[in-house]
Amino acid sequence: MKFRVRPVRQLSGTVEVPGDKSISHRAALLGALADGVTEVQGYLEGEDCLRTLTAIQMMGVEVTKKGPGHYRIAGVGLHGLTEPNDIIDCGNSGTTARLLIGLLAGQPFWTLLTGDESLRRRPMKRVVEPLGRMGATIVGRGGGERLPLAVRGADRPRAIAYESPVASAQVKSAVLLAGLRADGPVTVTEPAPSRDHSEVMLRAFGACLERAERRVTLHPGALRATAVQVPGDISSAAFLLVAGAMVADARVTVTGVGVNPTRTGLLDVLGAMGVRVTRMPVEGPVGESIATLTVASAAPVATTVAGVLIPRLIDEVPVLAVLAAVARGTTSISDAAELRVKESDRIAAVTRELGKMDVRIDPRPDGMLIPGGQRFRGAHVSSGGDHRMAMALAVAGLAADGETVVDDVACVQTSFPTFVDLVNTLAGGPAVTVSA
Ligand code: S3P
Repeated sequence: MKFRVRPVRQLSGTVEVPGDKSISHRAALLGALADGVTEVQGYLEGEDCLRTLTAIQMMGVEVTKKGPGHYRIAGVGLHGLTEPNDIIDCGNSGTTARLLIGLLAGQPFWTLLTGDESLRRRPMKRVVEPLGRMGATIVGRGGGERLPLAVRGADRPRAIAYESPVASAQVKSAVLLAGLRADGPVTVTEPAPSRDHSEVMLRAFGACLERAERRVTLHPGALRATAVQVPGDISSAAFLLVAGAMVADARVTVTGVGVNPTRTGLLDVLGAMGVRVTRMPVEGPVGESIATLTVASAAPVATTVAGVLIPRLIDEVPVLAVLAAVARGTTSISDAAELRVKESDRIAAVTRELGKMDVRIDPRPDGMLIPGGQRFRGAHVSSGGDHRMAMALAVAGLAADGETVVDDVACVQTSFPTFVDLVNTLAGGPAVTVSA
């Protein structure tokens, strides 16, 4: 599938983005492990999160769809999952794979996991190593480095104090999920704070947690089912906000967006670039903050993005690079080597594909330098199967001279199935069309 993207001069209106991907995965997994029934509303019905629902069903959890984004998950408790009788396919979803490996590290049966071509290339050692120390047996390609993998969980995982070498919420969450059945408290320390949705939701499910900025300790124990309302995904809203900042005559409002401070790095960077985003807080359930965000056309200036900011906007870097290319001055992004092991190598992909649109980027091992004041020329580009690249390239196309064709866009279904509809609603017509 491909997108044909026409440049637009105007974007206006109010839209709602689908549910947060990270929070949806966690609702499914904690719902499965809890005692009692969890009702989830606003669940992201993208391929990644549907993979997680299928995985828990394969382990004997009853999941009933009650309406759009509304699921009833009949939790089986920490000891109630059963050995799946087939391989679990995590598709394109790193979160499904890594969080499941963590959960399975505390379940005393064998599970086989695989994924698509992209996921089979991505590093799994980062979870396999701590979980092995906790007593799980994990074998797979490259010495347990890559999917397909087989996991045999420990009946009673060993307590651990783990110093993670990467600021990764997936690593932290995997260790915490294994820790629910451990023989003592489990502590994870990170080099920089990563998104804390697992901690927030574990508390909502009655878990006992102690937290400091870069450290969390979980005391093992049962989970109690609860209702979960998933806010809109700020990582999806990001594409619409950046489009709003770039298009000449724009005013874009996105309602009900999750603005957990561990996820709002892009909003801070937009502010530093002179792009005003107004935030109207919305009353919601305790735990995750929610707001309505509005952006208007701006004349952005360059900025520096590094250090503890990086985990707070890691998924937004491709679209941020698009904005930086039209800003005044050179933007520097560093400390972001993690970009190389996402759904694609996003440093290489951004450099290569924006290059086809005549935008020059200087790639670095851990980031990029993006000279500003450039113009996008409509061109034929490809997502390389990476959903966030597909959408970032479409945003570049909206502000380009001439038509842009983006190949390989079916991947957008993994995280933002309504992307095209929402862009066209804001554009007041078919700015992005999809063809075979
Ligand atoms: C996620 C964490 C991030 C992010 C990914 C989702 C999560 O990855 O890039 O899209 O839901 O925990 P890392 O934790 O590996 O940085």
